[in-house]
Amino acid sequence: MSKTPFESATIGGIKVKNRIFRSATHESTALPGGGVSKAMTDMYQDLTQGEVGLIITGYMSFSKEDNPTASTVLIGDDAAVPGLKALTETVHQGGGRIVTQLAHVGSQLTHPPTGAIFAPSDVVDPVNGIKPEPFSREQIQTLVKEFGDAAVRAKAAGFDGVQIHGAHGYLVSKFLSPEFNLREDEYGGTPEKNVRVAVDILKEIKARCGADYPVWIKMNCSDFGRENRGFAFEGALVAAKALDDAGIDAIELSGGTFAGEHTPCRSRKHGAYHLEYAKQLTREIDTPVILVGGIREIEVIEKILGDTDIEAISLSRPLIREPGLVGRWKDGDRSKAACVACNGCFNPTGCVCFFTLEGEARAAQKHRLEQFFWKK
Ligand SMILES: Cc1cc2nc3c(=O)[nH]c(=O)nc-3n(C[C@H](O)[C@H](O)[C@H](O)COP(=O)(O)O)c2cc1C
Repeated sequence: MSKTPFESATIGGIKVKNRIFRSATHESTALPGGGVSKAMTDMYQDLTQGEVGLIITGYMSFSKEDNPTASTVLIGDDAAVPGLKALTETVHQGGGRIVTQLAHVGSQLTHPPTGAIFAPSDVVDPVNGIKPEPFSREQIQTLVKEFGDAAVRAKAAGFDGVQIHGAHGYLVSKFLSPEFNLREDEYGGTPEKNVRVAVDILKEIKARCGADYPVWIKMNCSDFGRENRGFAFEGALVAAKALDDAGIDAIELSGGTFAGEHTPCRSRKHGAYHLEYAKQLTREIDTPVILVGGIREIEVIEKILGDTDIEAISLSRPLIREPGLVGRWKDGDRSKAACVACNGCFNPTGCVCFFTLEGEARAAQKHRLEQFFWKK
């Protein structure tokens, strides 16, 4: 307790200059073939200059059996390492820290697939109506190894750690969910078995990268499924305790999917919307907890860090609108983040704040948003 935002600390095995992080934010700017673009490097340079304590990258894809978007950065081949190394060096030279998020989309595609679509079980994905093929046990073992391979590349590229994407309806969170994981083998059927894949991935990364290499996970406090189906806080506690026991270095607590009662990116009516779950989680585990979702005010951050055992705060949309927000607060301009949580930054042609778009680009993005986020 009694922590402050702008003090240095070691969190989840990483020494950081402050406790305000950038949560994973898919950049949608990868080069054809999955390389790091100048737009992405510029974004990360701006965030580093903007005093962000640690950046978690947008999710990167690596599995031969995944269907990432064409604009996703790929880390499935050693050839990716030099480009990623240039990115980590940019951040390190500016005094920042950078963790890469490793993900498998599973069945939650919002774009045309490039191959077969796999998930824990053949349950139709409510986001797109796709009925996936269930993973075989051998495919799961391959997936675990692929996570390890990707983490080895991340370490070689200079990332300060990796984060397993276990939230928001992507593959690992589908394994956690009793609604989507109907398996009857060692990978599903009880909350303890549903977390097995995540624990195996953690152990594989530690075995391959060394016990000291920081491995974090982003997971949901609840999927907030309609009619309360699926993964809820009781399951999240079981999963978090298993990961705590297995040596995870930090848990970033999020919530929701793109099909449930709440998405991970709620409107501005909602503030710090996973806070009560995160507070409860800190009482149950020793692993540091990082809180994300709807945090917009420095006073709120000070109160959370001062009054609870939550170790750090992470922000996504506010830093798209204002990459210099953390530095602004630090320098004494304490006004609220300018982001209005419109979700206009979900842009397949490149993640930028909606309010920076003009002309045809703005009209096209408005049209896209009216089909999904602004429809509700
Ligand atoms: C454009 C955009 C891309 C995102 N990409 C990712 C991602 O790659 N991985 C992830 O775990 N969360 C992703 N998120 C979710 C954010 O990390 C965060 O959990 C959510 O936006 C709530 O935080 P906020 O209120 O500070 O924006 C994304 C959010 C946005 C707006």
